Amino acid sequence: MRFDIFTLFPGAYEGPLTESIIKRAQDDGLIEIAIHDIREWSRDRHRSVDDYPYGGGAGMVMMAPPIVEAVEATLGDDIERVPILLPSPSGALFTQALARDLAQTDRLAIICGRYEGIDQRVTDLLGAREVSIGDFVMTGGDLAAAIIIDVVARLIPGVIDDESLAMESHTSGLLEYPQYTRPQRYRDREVPEILLSGHHARIENWRREESLRRTCERRPDLLDHANLTSAERERIERWRETGVDDGGR
Ligand SMILES: C[S@@+](CC[C@H](N)C(=O)[O-])C[C@H]1O[C@@H](n2cnc3c(N)ncnc32)[C@H](O)[C@@H]1O
Repeated sequence: MRFDIFTLFPGAYEGPLTESIIKRAQDDGLIEIAIHDIREWSRDRHRSVDDYPYGGGAGMVMMAPPIVEAVEATLGDDIERVPILLPSPSGALFTQALARDLAQTDRLAIICGRYEGIDQRVTDLLGAREVSIGDFVMTGGDLAAAIIIDVVARLIPGVIDDESLAMESHTSGLLEYPQYTRPQRYRDREVPEILLSGHHARIENWRREESLRRTCERRPDLLDHANLTSAERERIERWRETGVDDGGR
């Protein structure tokens, strides 16, 4: 899969996209990341890419022409079919479900804003999809782009092993259960006995129960769309009335 990033700060990707799993995925030819400097498409000799907002107000707004022209020139005939994302705090939330859809495509473009944001006509003309990575405001879209690439890339077959993907938070609509490794006892804290039992079915039940408990406590909003049995729904109703217990931990 190929990712095309459009940015004013190409250096921002040193680190997030040049280490560990994402680096290996590039080395193995599973993903390709191309970083395009929007300034290259500026129309004046000062290489301007931003201007004052019409109507007044604080800060500067990124101009439409350099961005639209950069994306059109880079995507060429692919422009009609390639999803174009525009990270923005006022976009719809970027979710694991959207990442799964995007991982099915072979190319993805991401336009990164800075300053007060981007002229609305970029979204409108390119049919871009505005996505937010959370209810907070960052200084620029580059970290958001790196996060989106990280999330999508690890879903591409071969980037990480399938078992890791199957069992993690948000795959089943629930948060993941707590994980433990050695030592068995640390500062008076023991690993839950069930995990040492070797009894796979009971371990699975315990993990499912912990996932439910954790989701109920921390992210009850996820439960509406989670795949639950009727017994689990009843248990959650009980917890909602009485509070979530700690499961004997
Ligand atoms: C300072 S922000 C602009 C904020 C904008 N004036 C507003 O109030 O919505 C600059 C850029 O950072 C990026 N950004 C900031 N917060 C983000 C978030 N939560 N999700 C995705 N992108 C974000 C966007 O690319 C945005 O154009």
